Formats: sequence, C-alpha cells, structure tokens
Amino acid sequence: MTSTISKESLPKHVAIIMDGNGRWAEKHAFPRVRGHRKGAESVRTIVTLSRKLGISWLTLYAFSEENWKRPTHEVSALMKLLGSFLKRELKEMKENGIRLNVIGRTEKLPTATREILLDTIRQTSHGRRMVLTLALSYSGRQEILDAASALARKVKNGDMDPADITEDLFSANLYTSGMPDPDLVIRTSGEYRISNFLLWQISYSEIYITPTLWPDFGEAEFLNALSEYRKRDRRFGAVATTQ
Ligand code: FPP
Repeated sequence: MTSTISKESLPKHVAIIMDGNGRWAEKHAFPRVRGHRKGAESVRTIVTLSRKLGISWLTLYAFSEENWKRPTHEVSALMKLLGSFLKRELKEMKENGIRLNVIGRTEKLPTATREILLDTIRQTSHGRRMVLTLALSYSGRQEILDAASALARKVKNGDMDPADITEDLFSANLYTSGMPDPDLVIRTSGEYRISNFLLWQISYSEIYITPTLWPDFGEAEFLNALSEYRKRDRRFGAVATTQ
C-alpha cells in the first residue's frame, strides 16, 4: 500500500496538532491519562509510517506552553509518558535513521524528562532518513518574540542593520532554523484552530482537519490526508500555470 505513493507527490514536511486524547478517554470512560497513553501509540504508528513512506520531516505538537496550565498530575503523567516513550523507541529510531529534534522552551521541562530528551537527541544525531521534531513547551508567538529579541540585540550591538532583516534571516532565527516550512498541517479531533502552532512557518501550508480523535488516528487516515494533499493546487499566491 505504502509503495504506491511516489516521493515527489509526498509532502516533504508534515506537522501534526495531535488533539483529542482527553475526549477519547472520556468516550471510553477512562481517566484522561489513558487517552495520552493511547495517543503515544498513534505517535509510534505515524512516525513509523512516515519514515517508511519517505517523509523527511515530521513535527508533532506534543506539549504547548499553554498545557502547563493543566492539573499537575496530568502534566507530570505526560512528562513521564514522554520519557518512557523516548527510552522505548530509542533503539528503533537509531536503526531506522530517525533523528530526534525538539523545539520550544525545553528548559521548563522536569530535569528527568529533559535529560532523556537530550540523550535521545545525542544518540540519534546521525540519523539521515527522517527528522522527528517534538514541539514541547512550545508557543508560536513566543518563538517569534525570541527571534525578534535576538535580532534586536544584534542591531543594538551594531552587528546588523534593521534593513538586513529579511524573511530568510527571520526564519533563521526561529527555533525551526534550517527546517523547511511544513507543506501539510494535520489537526485531529475536528477543531478549526491553529492553537499557537508554528505561526510563522505555516503561511502557505495546506491544512487537513479530521474529526478523528488522535488515539484513533491510524495508517488509513494518515494515507487519506496525504492523498488529499496530492489533490491540492498549491499556488503560493500566484495563479495556476495552465491559466
Ligand atoms: C491533546 O489532547 C494532546 C496533548 C495535549 C498531548 C499530546 C501527547 C501525546 C499524543 C502523547 C505523548 C506524546 C509523545 C510524543 C509520546 P487533549 O488532552 O487536549 O484532548 P482533549 O482536547 O480531548 O481534552
């Protein structure tokens, strides 16, 4: 099934807002944390399939800056889940050439989670087949502010002129420096929102929204999103070449 998709028709970079773990748990009368655990299984499925298909960049919104406002026990369960997931998947990531990357204010993460994260990043740094980026303690607005501050400092120090600030230079000062912008953004659980995710980077991304809750999001639905993407006419503000 997966070999029928040509690499040229695939998005180079897919970014996903994984939403609906809580509602999935509620639907099954489970505690919310069980929804996150099931959500981690979907993460595994989608990472594996993306790598098999030949998607080069996969970015997952795993924990937003706003998520710190959740009850302490849920935050701590999510942090533990992230740590155990990374430990469990390390071998497979290394074997499959997956390089882990992280964007966000990771200094706010608990030390134990941060150490596992940094260790996984170090141990997978030679991966060349796919970059898996986790957005953790991430806020799109904060990322833009951080880039603006960095550039303002350079101007203040006399290292740069305000006229030197181009789109490329600004992009190079974001957490995603060196990454291509997402071609496709997927959001599960049917909300029509961007929720502070990659605000600068998604200017021309195609968006696919599905009512499926993240723990139920599997291979078939991901392939459907890719097939929808192939049908889109990406004009980037220009007119179609055939007109
Ligand atoms: C949204 O569901 C999901 C999250 C806040 C966290 C995403 C985390 C995972 C998928 C599991 C662990 C991640 C990794 C990378 C192993 P929600 O709780 O907002 O759902 P709701 O809107 O239905 O309440």
